[in-house]
Amino acid sequence: MRIGMLTSGGDCQALNAAMRGVVKGLEENVKQLEVYGFLNGYKGLIYGNYRLLTSTDFSGILTKGGTILGSSRQPFKYMRDPDENGLNKVEAMKSNYYKLNLDCLVILGGNGTQKTANLLREEGLNVIHLPKTIDNDIYGTDITFGFYSAVNVASAAIDCIHTTAASHNRVFIVEVMGHKVGWLTLYAGVASGADIILLPEIPYDDKKILNAIRKRQESGKGFTILAVAEGAISKEDAKLSKKELKKKLAKEPYPSVSYKIAEMITKELGSEARVTVPGHTQRGGTPCPYDRVLCTRLGSAAAKAIMDKKYGNMVAMIDGDTKLVPLEEVAGKLKGVDPDCKMIKEAKRIGISFGD
Ligand code: F6P
Repeated sequence: MRIGMLTSGGDCQALNAAMRGVVKGLEENVKQLEVYGFLNGYKGLIYGNYRLLTSTDFSGILTKGGTILGSSRQPFKYMRDPDENGLNKVEAMKSNYYKLNLDCLVILGGNGTQKTANLLREEGLNVIHLPKTIDNDIYGTDITFGFYSAVNVASAAIDCIHTTAASHNRVFIVEVMGHKVGWLTLYAGVASGADIILLPEIPYDDKKILNAIRKRQESGKGFTILAVAEGAISKEDAKLSKKELKKKLAKEPYPSVSYKIAEMITKELGSEARVTVPGHTQRGGTPCPYDRVLCTRLGSAAAKAIMDKKYGNMVAMIDGDTKLVPLEEVAGKLKGVDPDCKMIKEAKRIGISFGD
């Protein structure tokens, strides 16, 4: 059996653990196995940049962050466009796949990566997709790997801010990654006792944020912590079309939404609000034990799918079970936080403000 493997898009903590699961699952059960690792995501597949990997490459990597194959962003929307030298990227990927006579291509990545995986499936290649992203926004799986490791990092950042905010009686904003969705902010915010949590799915109102801070101050609590998703949006901005919003944001002087909120708080309350952005640390470091288990299970389930020739699927985790979900059913769909879900209601019940 010959398989190809690649990791594409933003990296995360448990990519290596997932690849290890796939390869170990195949090695144990297939007589002859060759694994070709394409370097730096789809780039490696397009330009025929790969390495023949051995068991040694997959040994000792369960706890290693990043990806041994490297990654890059190759936006799906440009996949059909020729590269700067006129190369047809889709045809190049197909050609390299056929040249190596691969039985299957294992693709680890997030939403964009999944769309390209589905495109390759439509083009006739055998593909299996594994859902990676700290954003947890892949439709059709309860959880993506990288998410809980990132929750740990973001929570640790908020925990550290907590002690200094309390000492100085300050308002602090911690900006959390998550792209267009608020999973990471919601979980890290609840895990570290944030007082106000702002998510893209629940547009905020400045007045509600100020009321929540004032309420804390009046009850003798001098500090307030806000966990703000990088994609958080005001009620006012949420009414604008994509184009109108882009135009408006281009005119604003803020590096990100948190700075805009901080300025508003400073102006209205007369005391300075500080911003902390843990940024890419949230994607870095060692995968947490949950992710190691998740990836070992997803990787092993992917190995079974390959041996059973059940191609064209994402290996998902649904209700605690590994399941195969057809790529055509999920590619291009986003999984956001439901503003009416139980977790939001429970958080509101204990006094957490969502700024709405
Ligand atoms: O999708 C993962 C993610 O870390 C998002 O949370 C974030 O918006 C984005 O990638 C950052 O991308 P880049 O690493 O290309 O700056």
